[in-house]
Amino acid sequence: MSGFTLETPFAMKGLQLRNRTVMAPMCQYSVTEKDGIANEWHYVHYTSRALGGVGLVIVEMTNVEPDGRITDQCLGLWSDDQIPALKRIVDAAHEHGAKIGIQIAHAGRKAQDAEQPVAPSAIAFDETYKQPRALTTAEVKDMVKKFGEAVRRAVEAGFDTIELHGAHGYLIHQFHSSRTNTRDDEYGQDLTLFGREAIAEAKKHMPEDMPLLFRISALEYVEDGYGIDYGIELCRAYLEAGVDLLHISTGGEGTPAPAKRPKVEPGFQLEAAHTVKQALGVPVIAVGMLDDPHFAAETLATGKTDLVAIGRGLLRDPYWAIHAIKETGGDFRAHVPKAYIRGY
Ligand SMILES: Cc1cc2nc3c(=O)[nH]c(=O)nc-3n(C[C@H](O)[C@H](O)[C@H](O)COP(=O)(O)O)c2cc1C
Repeated sequence: MSGFTLETPFAMKGLQLRNRTVMAPMCQYSVTEKDGIANEWHYVHYTSRALGGVGLVIVEMTNVEPDGRITDQCLGLWSDDQIPALKRIVDAAHEHGAKIGIQIAHAGRKAQDAEQPVAPSAIAFDETYKQPRALTTAEVKDMVKKFGEAVRRAVEAGFDTIELHGAHGYLIHQFHSSRTNTRDDEYGQDLTLFGREAIAEAKKHMPEDMPLLFRISALEYVEDGYGIDYGIELCRAYLEAGVDLLHISTGGEGTPAPAKRPKVEPGFQLEAAHTVKQALGVPVIAVGMLDDPHFAAETLATGKTDLVAIGRGLLRDPYWAIHAIKETGGDFRAHVPKAYIRGY
């Protein structure tokens, strides 16, 4: 037993969270002008969850180039023009006591609105997706720099932490999976090289005391997809490259094989998070149907995870964190905005 509850503060390097709840990154597909710039929707959406008591808000998948977006309605950080709207969100989150990070990403072959998506190798996701072209070695090196530049902009916007998106079958994941990376250059000989270079480049632009988060699919559900042992090896490589905190998800590389299809039930990814935590002795964020407050609290108390991320539960209830702390007997009033205290 760890003795931790949902309201136990968490600290890592210079990042100090008021509690152990995390808002999982969730694409809003709500950019209206195709310019990748956050708008009123994003401001209200993220500010509401900060107001709702979340310890760490993680802004949705935000992409390093226009064709790296899933859709043209996704956020971007390929231009300095995209910084001010994000800074406004960061400032509001801070005003309401939350810390805020951002997920930096490239969709690779899963970029749906790109004329021709790019990927490690020219292998389509399935017949409904566009045929990608393989990046040249020079373009891969350039892509690493684009990750770094996006991180620089995020730091300028005032984010407290950065999460690199290495999960769900997007570009970093495509590089580290032998099913999607059949290159014969150095990025194919060493499947974690791209991810490790992106980590190193990100860190060049981050203050020393800012932790780097990395989201990873610790195992795959596709036929011939990798298992947890390889997932642990990937995590080890990325930790050695400079990651501080792992955010453990699963899947995303393709349609699950019938025999491997996960039973989507409370905590369905928790064992993966716990296994990585035990194998490598590192702090983790668990995610995946953890929104029952008692169940979420138990995952912390039993030490299976260090932090709990909530996705859909926070779409349904922006005040999930306050309500969950209340339901599990915590000092929820400390998290309720002053103007709302009479509601309780
Ligand atoms: C609308 C929506 C958008 C999502 N977008 C992202 C994303 O941008 N990046 C990411 O890593 N995961 C994304 N996810 C996955 C969530 O972060 C989370 O891992 C998943 O929903 C499982 O957690 P939950 O059961 O608490 O919802 C998304 C999920 C939803 C429902």
